Amino acid sequence: MKSVFGLLGHPVGHSMSPLIHNDAFQALGIEAEYHAFDVESKAVKQAIEGIRALGIVGCNVTVPHKVAVMDYLDEIDEEAQLIGAVNTIVNDNGRLIGYNTDGRGYVESLLELVRMFQEKRVLIIGAGGAARGIVTSLLKEGIAELAITNRTLKKAESFNVLANQFNTNLVLLTKEEASSQTNEFDIIINTTSVGMSPHVNELPLSLNAVKEHAIVSDLIYNPIETSFLKVAKKLGAQPLNGVGMFVNQAALSFEYWTGKKPNRKRMEQLVLQQLGGK
Ligand code: ATR
Repeated sequence: MKSVFGLLGHPVGHSMSPLIHNDAFQALGIEAEYHAFDVESKAVKQAIEGIRALGIVGCNVTVPHKVAVMDYLDEIDEEAQLIGAVNTIVNDNGRLIGYNTDGRGYVESLLELVRMFQEKRVLIIGAGGAARGIVTSLLKEGIAELAITNRTLKKAESFNVLANQFNTNLVLLTKEEASSQTNEFDIIINTTSVGMSPHVNELPLSLNAVKEHAIVSDLIYNPIETSFLKVAKKLGAQPLNGVGMFVNQAALSFEYWTGKKPNRKRMEQLVLQQLGGK
């Protein structure tokens, strides 16, 4: 009998997770199937009970349930606790354990461009769930300085506690301050949805002062190259899109479930094919 894996989210119709996980199961000869389950917010508790009742072996969790599922799991891994959200559930013989692979997935994509984080000054645009995942993983790596800018700056204040835990200096900047100081940062990461299809001409921040060779990154992967990344490239910065994060978080989840490493390059090719075919 095939083992069942799944994605809990709402909506899930456009998710590429079934495509890459099912391909990886097949490639590795694992008798398993991955389904996208469209779960409304009011049914999250029942969905988690369903994992136990049906013997579903592992799940991903996506928007808007990453925080809500935490109440119904048996154990939450330390990094997921720090982030305050779960994107991966492992069913260990009926014991449900929550992990978060988003931040680490992103950091692993960044590691292809950066060797050492210790000297790096990082500017994050946005203060939502995605920002929290990435900031937590970056703080775990150890960075020189963290700055956050957000439309609602007050929301970024909650990151102070997190930064303090890692003895890292956190600076909160208005959009104007951040725009005029982009030359101070080695890594600039947009975690907001500004610039996502269909609003592809919008920029989350002006990059006029950006340092040559700085890394400018966008978690968005639709479009694959946002206006933000196009501008960054023109100014001599190194662009990094969100495809690597998507692939790596999936690969890390897969590793938690199966103990096996999927072929990340193959996953990436499938994602690029799918995005290019749109
Ligand atoms: P996610 O899990 O993707 O991070 P989220 O937790 O809802 O989603 O956070 C969305 C982030 O994008 C927030 O930082 C939000 O800014 P606010 O805190 O001010 O709401 C930011 N964001 C979303 N739409 C935006 C827009 N049009 N302009 C600027 N920032 C935006």
